[in-house]
Amino acid sequence: MSGPRRLAILLLAAATLLGFAPGSASAADSHRVANIAHRGSGAMAPENTLASVRLALQQGADYIENDIMRTSDGALVIMHDLTLARTTNVEQVFPDRAPWNTKDFTLAEIKQLDAGSWFSASYAGQRVPTLREWVEAVGSRAGMLLEAKDPWAFPGIELDIDKELRSIPAFGKALASGRVIMQAGDEPWLRSYHDLAPDVPVGLLYYTRPTDEQLVSASTWLDSVHPALGNIDQGIVDRAHALGLDIHVWTVNFGGDMSRGIAWGVDGIITDYPSVLRDILRKG
Ligand code: G3P
Ligand code: CA
Repeated sequence: MSGPRRLAILLLAAATLLGFAPGSASAADSHRVANIAHRGSGAMAPENTLASVRLALQQGADYIENDIMRTSDGALVIMHDLTLARTTNVEQVFPDRAPWNTKDFTLAEIKQLDAGSWFSASYAGQRVPTLREWVEAVGSRAGMLLEAKDPWAFPGIELDIDKELRSIPAFGKALASGRVIMQAGDEPWLRSYHDLAPDVPVGLLYYTRPTDEQLVSASTWLDSVHPALGNIDQGIVDRAHALGLDIHVWTVNFGGDMSRGIAWGVDGIITDYPSVLRDILRKG
């Protein structure tokens, strides 16, 4: 190999390591995509538990997503379903309490439940975390994508969420460092929360392809739009960006789909497999 060619290769290798390689736009773009772990590392640990949070952190998640609900005695807990039946052993512990709605149980009752065994015996004993426990577990190690799940079932929960979050030092630090987003699929609820907490970035979930009218409206108050990857295309990503919005897509579990979202330039990918997305982003 000639001297100049060897020098050129060495310079290219050094530039690549530093992220400045000419023509490496895809690698540079990849690094801007946030790896958002859905319900923690939701496919590899019991969703929304602290074990799932810890695994997502180990797997390099940039943000961790959750779902917030309220108990009968006013505690905020991390739970996706309106009923506790799918992700805990509530049917065994409280056989006479069908349909086992989250909102009908006290925090002390919910804390008796095993939220890990349904997923794997190796996670036996995992508990349903409170919002405070979840925020403290994430701490400064990742950003927080908080979701008020089915807020219509918990009247006034925006007040409870705001009060609780403001009392947690780790939340204040995350907010100050720009690593908090509150999302919901219920637009009126999200507007109520935004009125209450205008300093917290907000993102709206879309269950169909967002119309241009919706995107224009979104740009007047939202920080980000959160559609399903399957409902969008390059045009939606470009339009969101032109309107000054970030775009985070869900729930993307196949490598090919992750690569498609990255190529379109989305800002965040919500996935049950943060380790797979991490590896794709690393490869660029
Ligand atoms: O973060 C997006 C996604 O969580 C919305 O769907 O049902 O998993 O809360 P779901
Ligand atoms: Ca969610």
